[in-house]
Amino acid sequence: MSDLIVTIDGPAASGKSTVARLLADKLDASFLDTGAMYRAVTLAAMQAGVDLNDQRKLLEIVQKCKFQFSAEAGKTAVCIDNTDVTEQIRDPEVTSNARYIAGEPTVRAELVRMQRQFAAARQKIVTEGRDQGTVAFADADVKFFLTADAGERARRRQADLGGKDNDQSLEQIQKAIEERDRSDESRAVGPLKPADDAIVVDTTDLSIDQVVEKLLALVKERCSQSK
Ligand code: DC
Repeated sequence: MSDLIVTIDGPAASGKSTVARLLADKLDASFLDTGAMYRAVTLAAMQAGVDLNDQRKLLEIVQKCKFQFSAEAGKTAVCIDNTDVTEQIRDPEVTSNARYIAGEPTVRAELVRMQRQFAAARQKIVTEGRDQGTVAFADADVKFFLTADAGERARRRQADLGGKDNDQSLEQIQKAIEERDRSDESRAVGPLKPADDAIVVDTTDLSIDQVVEKLLALVKERCSQSK
């Protein structure tokens, strides 16, 4: 049973992963990148040549493959059946195909089960995704929802990619981000939306450090109130 669960949800490229990782460090908590889970299942399904609309086959992939996730400097390292796929899960094709896996209710239910299992084995966690405060951890101690305007998120994504394997213009990156927003928000299960009790933080004009400090102060404030 965890003493502290902090959820950070928000749209693509809103800075969730970086912020969640740094916040987890400051709180001496474990960090869970649930997007990496959806990406890993997507890649495993693509590698197996599975029809991404085939619900039964997708669930089989989740249940049969051995997925390992570990926090490494600056990113989440991922292995599928002991093969390191940390870089591959960030391929644009995987990013785009993840919506099939994210829209599959039985797969979501299984991944949520794994997320709760991860939390149950840890004292403190900071977890990030789309449905962490609404579905996976509806009773979380502190819930955040990070936003930033799409133009700013596209600039951040372009800077992250750093030109590596990236021949997309800023405009194309922004368009892809807006398409993912639509797909995330319109999903019937686990759609992207702030929990009723989430603290919404607009990060458009804030640096990563400023966001982390703000969230840290809010977590400390909430925790002192609940004592
Ligand atoms: O955060 P990300 O870009 O790594 O997420 C990858 C995909 O997984 C994206 O299509 C949204 C989806 N996702 C989800 O549906 N629910 C989560 N809790 C995390 C990610």
